[in-house]
Amino acid sequence: MQKAKTRTRVFSGVQPTGNLHLGNYLGAITKFVALQEEHDCLYCVVDLHAITVFQDPDALTKNTREVTAAFIASGIDPARHIVFNQSQVSGHAELAWIFNCVARLGWLNRMTQFKEKAGKDRENASAGLYVYPNLMAADILLYHATHVPVGDDQKQHLELARDIAQKFNNDFAATIARAGYPGGFFPLPEPLITGPATRVMSLRDGMRKMSKSDESDMTRINLTDDEDAIAKKIKKAKTDPEPLPSEVKGLEARPEADNLVGIYAGLADTSKETVLREFGNAPFSRFKEALAELAAARLTPIGKEMRRLMADPVEIDRILAEGARRAHAIADPILAATKDIVGLIRS
Ligand code: TYM
Repeated sequence: MQKAKTRTRVFSGVQPTGNLHLGNYLGAITKFVALQEEHDCLYCVVDLHAITVFQDPDALTKNTREVTAAFIASGIDPARHIVFNQSQVSGHAELAWIFNCVARLGWLNRMTQFKEKAGKDRENASAGLYVYPNLMAADILLYHATHVPVGDDQKQHLELARDIAQKFNNDFAATIARAGYPGGFFPLPEPLITGPATRVMSLRDGMRKMSKSDESDMTRINLTDDEDAIAKKIKKAKTDPEPLPSEVKGLEARPEADNLVGIYAGLADTSKETVLREFGNAPFSRFKEALAELAAARLTPIGKEMRRLMADPVEIDRILAEGARRAHAIADPILAATKDIVGLIRS
């Protein structure tokens, strides 16, 4: 049995379900970019997760390429790190099955995202949607990833991934020890949920998350929006009648103001305190103008580069294939060791 190395490794994923937005960018993708400097990273377009809700096949293909383009346009380097789509590495699905047999129904029943996504018509949700968090645990643990940058909404799924790793390590403690992994086989992955924009809210309702699936496009800023669209959406964003406070405490109970200040801080790579030092007591009209300018300056070059990359799907597919090949090289020995630990014969 081959021994997996224990070292720092970053893994994260984004679903190719269309409308990549500012929440995905500030909550996740900017973190992916920053982590490249110090870590070995795998960034995955999680197409198997996407199909837990029906996806039009042509749209799925296009959206998979679009997320890949967004990664690269935002500054992820697919030569130094691994960018790939999940379904090209079959180990994700294989390990997810093993984890389906480790995770407990009680654990899955507590998942708030399933409850939100399945809604009232739970009987009609796919079985895949229910076991989605087990696949997510498999994504991470298939690479023995140690750090996982995500937005705040994925926190509960990360806790479940840790529970699964822990239970696997306990259930199979005897064969794991025999195979020479005294500290357990799967590392417990650390969520990285940092910065001022871990939960970007809808521009129209400060109590709702900014989401790809919101029917109204005015609730979110898409990575492909042009300057005019960005300016219009920010101008129309819901606010309250008071000017901005000069301290962060003054944002309490003002969800819309808090959200816009958090977005500004995320885009400027600074803190809410610093933003309020500049804009405290300013009317929203002035703040919104500055925010629109900043958002356009940060996002429109990314949108432009995404469009350029999307014009060459053959090249995007080549990058994904190459990423998958390199992902396989890490995953295959870990999956083989997992099978040995569980007692599955392999050739
Ligand atoms: P997904 O595709 O919904 O979102 C991708 C990333 O964007 C973050 N995010 C947000 N951050 C701040 N504010 C928001 N409004 C906002 N909306 C989304 C998400 O937290 C996420 O980091 N289950 C995951 C994908 C996944 C994954 C994984 C992540 C599958 N396997 C393994 C990490 C590790 C998801 O649905 O993300």
